Amino acid sequence: MQQHKNFARRPQRRKAAIASLWLGLSIIGGANAAHAEMDPPWFLPFSTMTEQEKRGMQLYYHDAGGVGSGIGCADCHGDIGQGNIDVGAPAAAGAIRSTFDTMTSGGAELMNFLKNTPAEKDDVFSFLQVLRYVTRPNLGEAETEGKKIYEEIAGGVGCQACHGMDAVGVIGPDIRGKDPVAILEAMKTVPDMGIIELTEVQVNQVASYLRALHELEEH
Ligand code: HEC
Ligand code: HEC
Repeated sequence: MQQHKNFARRPQRRKAAIASLWLGLSIIGGANAAHAEMDPPWFLPFSTMTEQEKRGMQLYYHDAGGVGSGIGCADCHGDIGQGNIDVGAPAAAGAIRSTFDTMTSGGAELMNFLKNTPAEKDDVFSFLQVLRYVTRPNLGEAETEGKKIYEEIAGGVGCQACHGMDAVGVIGPDIRGKDPVAILEAMKTVPDMGIIELTEVQVNQVASYLRALHELEEH
């Protein structure tokens, strides 16, 4: 793998990075210092994931160092398993089983603190296979603004409060792909949405974001 070669070429930098990472992790473990836990990114294919893949996802972002540890594989391997050159962690997305088994059974010094059970290893392995097909979407300006409105601005709580983080529906229905007309109509007719006031530009931005979510779902 190309990334591996890069790591190998930078032994000094890698050592320093590992030392500071370890310090960071031991502080997290010891003193419970503030540590921004990484959450699964919004563009993961949540709606099509199996229960096993979802358990693996929980381990990957939050519980790799044990349930409640707040330490995830993501801390070293990145939010979509792309690897982190500063830590010397290679890409983990789509890992091959034999490499995975070696690395999670003492083959990687930095991972020795992992005490995952065989079942947990199967779970996290299945999630790495999901990550294999995940790419970071390139959101344009309109979609990025729309995402902000969707997640926090609309009505002071964001559309997500009722339609869910990825618009697949919670209290309100799945609205991926809904256009500006449908949004305006809903703002007029749905009682729960009465508090929401958006300009025409904002409605268009939210619609762009909903379209992006819809397109993501299709592949
Ligand atoms: C503290 C940092 C750290 C954490 C946390 C961590 N890893 Fe790693 N991982 C590494 C490093 C460093 C390597 C490379 C080791 C080497 O090549 O000697 C590695 C290697 C791997 C590899 C081998 C990739 C390859 O193709 O060579 C896989 C797969 C992997 N880790 C999966 C995981 C999973 C799954 C978790 C969570 C359960 C995890 N790692 C948690 C640092 C970490
Ligand atoms: C307080 C909860 C709430 C919030 C916040 C909210 N909605 Fe809704 N929304 C609903 C409910 C409930 C329905 C379903 C009403 C029904 O079916 O009668 C709905 C329906 C809709 C519909 C119609 C769906 C369809 O299938 O026709 C659209 C479009 C919509 N919402 C978009 C949005 C957008 C965009 C936002 C943010 C700008 C938002 N909603 C914020 C509760 C909410």
